[in-house]
Amino acid sequence: MALNLVRTRDLSLSKLEFPLIAKRVRMVSVFLLILLLSISTSHKRLFIEATEHTEKLAFHGFDKSILASKYLQIYNNSKYGTLQLDNGLGKTPPMGWNSWNHFGCSVDERVIKETADALVATGLAELGYVYVNIDDCWANKRRILVFVAPLLAPDPNTFPSGIKALADYVHGKGLKLGIYGDAGQLTCQQRPGSLGFELLDAMVLASWEVDYLKYDNCYDMGISPQKRYPAMRDALNSTARSIFYSICEWGVDDPALWAPRVGNSWRTTIDISDSWESMTRIADINDKWAEYAGPGGWNDPDMLEVGNGGMTYQEYRSHFSIWALMKAPLLIGCDVRNMSPQTLEILSNKEVIDVNQDSLGLQGRKINVSGKDGCLQVWAGLLSSSAPEIRLAIVLWNRCSTASMISVSWLELGVIFDVIVSVRDLWEHKFLDSISRDSFGAEVDSHDCKMYIMTHIPLFHSES
Ligand code: GLA
Repeated sequence: MALNLVRTRDLSLSKLEFPLIAKRVRMVSVFLLILLLSISTSHKRLFIEATEHTEKLAFHGFDKSILASKYLQIYNNSKYGTLQLDNGLGKTPPMGWNSWNHFGCSVDERVIKETADALVATGLAELGYVYVNIDDCWANKRRILVFVAPLLAPDPNTFPSGIKALADYVHGKGLKLGIYGDAGQLTCQQRPGSLGFELLDAMVLASWEVDYLKYDNCYDMGISPQKRYPAMRDALNSTARSIFYSICEWGVDDPALWAPRVGNSWRTTIDISDSWESMTRIADINDKWAEYAGPGGWNDPDMLEVGNGGMTYQEYRSHFSIWALMKAPLLIGCDVRNMSPQTLEILSNKEVIDVNQDSLGLQGRKINVSGKDGCLQVWAGLLSSSAPEIRLAIVLWNRCSTASMISVSWLELGVIFDVIVSVRDLWEHKFLDSISRDSFGAEVDSHDCKMYIMTHIPLFHSES
C-alpha cells in the first residue's frame, strides 16, 4: 500500500512537474557551462596576462611559458625595456676597477698601469674585471688651445705620456680604459667640465680610444640633468667608437625614470663611503628601482668598497653579494696591487660573479624582512635557465647585531617545495644535503650573509 502510494505519487509528480524539472536541469546545465567557460577563460586570461608580463622577463631567451604568475609579482621587471638605450653595450653589468674610492685625487699613470698589471696577474681580469677607469683629477686644470679648439688635456705632471698612450698600454693587456668627465662647467674637483663642449670632448675621448665614460653632475649651472646628459649621449654616438656611457647623477632627479634612454648605467644614490651604514643605506635606495634595470641599462649603487679597510670581512662579503644580486656594476674600489687574500677571495668568487653577469639581467631585490627594524632580510632574483627548470639567486642577509636564523617560506620566494632540484651555497661552494619542506633558512652571523642558487621546476606549464 505504502509502496503503491509512493509509486502513484511519483508517477503523478513526474507527470505534473516534468516540464519544470526539465527546465531546471536545463538552467543548471547552462549555469554549469557558463561556469566552466568562465573558469577556462579566466585561466586563459591569467596565462595571457602572465605571458604578456613575461615578455619582459623573456629577454635573452628565457622561456616565458614556464613562469607562474607568482613570479611576476615577486620578480617584476615590467618597467624595463621600453626606454633602454640600444648602443650594443652593457648587455651585462660592467666589471672592472675605478680609482676614486681608494686613491681620490692621488692618481697618476703609474697607478693606472700597475693596476692593469695587477688585474691580469691576480686573475681578476680573466674573471671579467676588464674596465680600468680613471676617475676625477686626471685632467689639466685648463683646456689647451689647439688650432683655436679648446681641448681637454691630461695633467702633464701626473699623466705625462698622455691618455692615448695609456689606452694603448691597457688595451695591450686585453683590458679597456675608462675616463671621467662632468656634465657641468667643472668636474667635482674643478677640472674642466664638458657642458657646452660635448661634441669636441667626445671626439677627443674617441681619438684617445677610450672605452667608458663616467659622467658626473657637479657645477650644473642650474640646468636640468635631463637636458645635460642626452647632449653627451648624442656626442658619443656621433663618434665611430663604442663608449659605455655611465651617468653619475647621484639619483637626484630619479634617473631610473629617464636615464635608461640616455646611458648604459645611472647612479641611483649619493656617494658610497667605506662604512656599513653607507653601504646598507645605498643598497636600500638602489633596491627601489629594481624594475627599471636590465641588459643595456643598469641601476648603479656606486663602486665597491671591498678591501678598503672600513668594514669587516663579513660586511664586505655582504656588500659584494648584494651588489652582485642587484646587477650593479662591479667596479673594484681598492688598491688591487696590495690586496689581502680575503679581499681577493671575495672579489674573485666566480659563482657570485656569475649571478651578476647572468644573461637574464634581472635585478634581484629585497623580498622579505623580519626581526627588529627589519634587519633579517631575504633578497632574491630570477636567473636565466633552460626549460623546464627555473633558477633563483637568494641572499639571506643579517643586518642585526647578533647571529640569527633567517627564514622565508618557499611560497614567499615563489617556489613549491616538491619541485626543488638543488640548492647550492655560493660561498661554501657546495650543494645543500637537505632542506626543509615549508621554508628556507639558515643561521647567519651578524652583518654576514649566505648566498644560494636554487634550481626548481615550476608546476605551471603552457600546453603549446
Ligand atoms: C662625485 C662622484 C664620485 C667621484 C667624485 C670625484 O662625488 O659621485 O663618484 O667621481 O665626484 O670628484
